Amino acid sequence: MTALPTFTAHNGFTLPAIGLGTYALWGDAGADAVAGALSAGYRLVDSAFNYENEGSVGRGVAASGVDRAEVIVTTKLPGRHHRTAKATTSIEESRSRLGVDAVDLHLIHWPNPSQDEYVQAWQALVEAQQRGVVRQIGVSNFLPAHLERIERETGVRPVVNQIEVHPYFPQEEQLEYHRDHGILTEAWSPIAKAADLLAEPVVVEVAAAHDISPAQAVLAWHVARETIAIPKASSREHQVANLAAASVALSRDEVAAITALGRADGRLFGGDPRTHEES
Ligand SMILES: NC(=O)c1ccc[n+]([C@@H]2O[C@H](COP(=O)([O-])OP(=O)(O)OC[C@H]3O[C@@H](n4cnc5c(N)ncnc54)[C@H](OP(=O)(O)O)[C@@H]3O)[C@@H](O)[C@H]2O)c1
Repeated sequence: MTALPTFTAHNGFTLPAIGLGTYALWGDAGADAVAGALSAGYRLVDSAFNYENEGSVGRGVAASGVDRAEVIVTTKLPGRHHRTAKATTSIEESRSRLGVDAVDLHLIHWPNPSQDEYVQAWQALVEAQQRGVVRQIGVSNFLPAHLERIERETGVRPVVNQIEVHPYFPQEEQLEYHRDHGILTEAWSPIAKAADLLAEPVVVEVAAAHDISPAQAVLAWHVARETIAIPKASSREHQVANLAAASVALSRDEVAAITALGRADGRLFGGDPRTHEES
């Protein structure tokens, strides 16, 4: 098994270039998909309290036979649990559902700015990390202003910001902000849900030039831009193909040609963190 490239955050925490998305992986089939991915070489697994699949993810990790210390299990704190006491209970509930001694990476799912409680949520994660029930802490869907505020008010900078990134929405400025601050970018919906993007002529051309699939070309584009892609894949075939994409090197011109698909309104469903909130 070829080692995946890794990327390193400001505090030395490293993540592999490709992880497994798990939205809609539920029940026994979900647990089997997670176990299968780990046996195929994945070491980073995403999940969230709101996906209602922490139990399946945890069972998949346990059944995989892969040394627990090698696996980075991620979950996310939901918007309705931001207040300190609720956040602390929620973090404990996630750990318990996952069936792990400590969650490797716990993120705030959305900032929900109108609620204005994300600093409390961050403080609860900081304290959970101090107690040792969470190893690394980060956020998701945070804009630079949100990142700056939590660091200003707590003195602690997240290691990861998981955001929407794909060729229709390449997020160049936000990525540059993350690079400047040593915050790792995880890309959600990295292949834009395997719909129109995979038929874009430029993606098809790059794929043909490397004798790979369009989905692999898009994942190689993420790796070249040093974003950690977490494609959801239920089949063994897709899981293996997605990991293999990490060893494909695109040229600078190929990366630029795919990035040129970007649009100002390229978000898949209007998930602008200034206005989109999830409970
Ligand atoms: N933080 C957030 O707010 C947020 C929001 C959305 C998503 N996420 C996370 O990001 C993960 C990924 O995003 P996503 O699930 O929305 O979309 P995605 O990963 O871009 O696309 C998933 C789709 O791609 C298909 N697929 C996977 N590999 C493929 C391949 N090699 N060739 C062709 N099709 C392939 C999958 O099918 P099969 O399952 O049949 O393989 C599935 O239908 C989620 O699962 C979740 O963990 C986070």
